[in-house]
Amino acid sequence: MAEAGSFADRVKQQADIVRVIGEYVRLKKSGQNFTGLCPFHAEKTPSFAVHPVKQIYHCFGCGVGGDVFKFVMEMDKCSFPEAVRAVAEKCGIPVPQPRERSPEERRENQQRAALVEMHREAAAFFARQLEATAEGKAARAYLEDRGLDAEAIARFGLGYAPSAGDALYRHLKQKYPDNLLEVSGLAARDPSGRLYDRFRRRIVFPIANESGKVIAFGGRALGDDLPKYLNSPETPIYSKSNVLYHLDRAKEALRQRDFAVLVEGYMDVIGVARAGVANVVASCGTSLAEPQVKLLGHFTRRVVVNYDPDVAGQAATERSLAILLEQGYDVRVLALPAGSDPDKFIRESGAEAYRKLLEAAPAYVDYLIARARQMDLTSAEGKLRAVNFLMPYVQRIPNRLLRSEWATRIAQQLRVDEPVLRESLRRAAAERRSEVKTKPELMARAARPAERRLVQMLIEAEGFRGRLAAELRAGGAGELYRGLETERIFDALLAACESGERPDPAALANALPDYDRRLLFEIAFEPAAEPTWDEAESCLRVLYRRQAEAELAAVQKQIESQPAAVANAASNEMRRLLARKQELRRRLAELPH
Ligand code: UTP
Ligand code: MN
Repeated sequence: MAEAGSFADRVKQQADIVRVIGEYVRLKKSGQNFTGLCPFHAEKTPSFAVHPVKQIYHCFGCGVGGDVFKFVMEMDKCSFPEAVRAVAEKCGIPVPQPRERSPEERRENQQRAALVEMHREAAAFFARQLEATAEGKAARAYLEDRGLDAEAIARFGLGYAPSAGDALYRHLKQKYPDNLLEVSGLAARDPSGRLYDRFRRRIVFPIANESGKVIAFGGRALGDDLPKYLNSPETPIYSKSNVLYHLDRAKEALRQRDFAVLVEGYMDVIGVARAGVANVVASCGTSLAEPQVKLLGHFTRRVVVNYDPDVAGQAATERSLAILLEQGYDVRVLALPAGSDPDKFIRESGAEAYRKLLEAAPAYVDYLIARARQMDLTSAEGKLRAVNFLMPYVQRIPNRLLRSEWATRIAQQLRVDEPVLRESLRRAAAERRSEVKTKPELMARAARPAERRLVQMLIEAEGFRGRLAAELRAGGAGELYRGLETERIFDALLAACESGERPDPAALANALPDYDRRLLFEIAFEPAAEPTWDEAESCLRVLYRRQAEAELAAVQKQIESQPAAVANAASNEMRRLLARKQELRRRLAELPH
């Protein structure tokens, strides 16, 4: 162990794990991390990751992980002091060589910051056009026609792009150079080389990143102009497959309710959120991309897919199901009546009717069986097609028993009596898809998003670490984290916080059993925005709720198990239990759901 102030500690402070491991493994930059093929097990796709800031490595495939010394000890099969010396030599210590940001990296960061600022100004410009111009008035009438009043316009930051070809461009060019305006995608060049506005005569929906910064726009034509929706192109700050519309506003509700409603578009999000279901996000396009699924996973791993009930929406539902299942999500599907979409349904049938359907949304397998039953099942070929349609999904169910239950159920529902079909269903149920099997077994489901995020914050939140630790230790009825999957990790983290240390995952790892170390490192590698106290409170409320619910269940059980002699409300014990029950119910009612 590298004790504070020791030579080993100094070496560790100065060494760069990326450079050291880079001598053994070919590493490639991937987001904020570096990845490569794991040197500790045979693999063809990289699942070995190195974190340059936390200075740790972790293999998502075989689970090895630790700090720079552990890596050298295991690679070179040497002792700790030898590893310290080796690392010092490799790094030319005592000459400190911190990793310098390259000038290029600095320039890119500056450009991104300018683009974000530009989008903020553009959003304000569009909002003003909608609010205060003659042309905007027509756009407001259109929105009103669609059920969107001033309150909704303000809540979702809607704006209007005027029809004059360069109104926004002229507004922004006072402050930004042409090339940056072009890079932003807000302006484009015509054949003569002149810049003009990308969005014209359209309602604009600002698209924000996870931390609420506007980074792109979607523009809806006022009438039947084509395309119906025009979106920002890919830019240095916006990549379509990395963003979920409304995630920034949905975060808290996603955590609290621990599920997401996934819809197709802007108008659907607005309709659903206004119907009182704040935990809604849109993939904005037909299908869901894997990075979007990972992003959502920071908040919840349960999803109700609610795409449009048209052919495109059904195809997108099925593609999205495949990705979600592969990533271990718990998925249900809400299929609305034909000819509708979430926004339209809510306007026609009301918020209450929508929420009812949402609650009753069936598990994805039931949805798929219903789809298969719409196929022609009168002939053997038709049945074969239906079975073949279902098979890949059955194979994605992680649990073997469940798989075989579903196979039986499918056979019954589709009236599959032919032994050949039964046999292929049985075989499909017996084995998971090999492509799924070779994927690393993530512990992603091992702990709820709220606890994972709290672990991350204890490591990273310089500003309120102490306050958070105190809350976890003493909040509610005793320690808030008891009984959680992450219990031992919290114990170790809190001990470090309370001794005034800055918790270092690599150091903590030494004190944790292998299982917990893996979970901790997996969490440490999850990318995340700068933590805020608001967010911490939102996560804490999830734990408060869980604790109160658990106690309520226990109290209820005690009430029910009182012997008949004392089971009248007059006995002291019974009175105490009933009072406690009432108190807990009151507390739960106060906590957001
Ligand atoms: P829809 O065609 O279902 O639009 O596309 P909508 O959301 O119901 O909108 P309204 O009610 O007709 O105004 C769903 C989503 O697909 C993306 C948009 O994100 C849209 O919200 N889309 C659709 C595009 O990006 N481009 C298009 O041309 C159409
Ligand atoms: Mn639609």
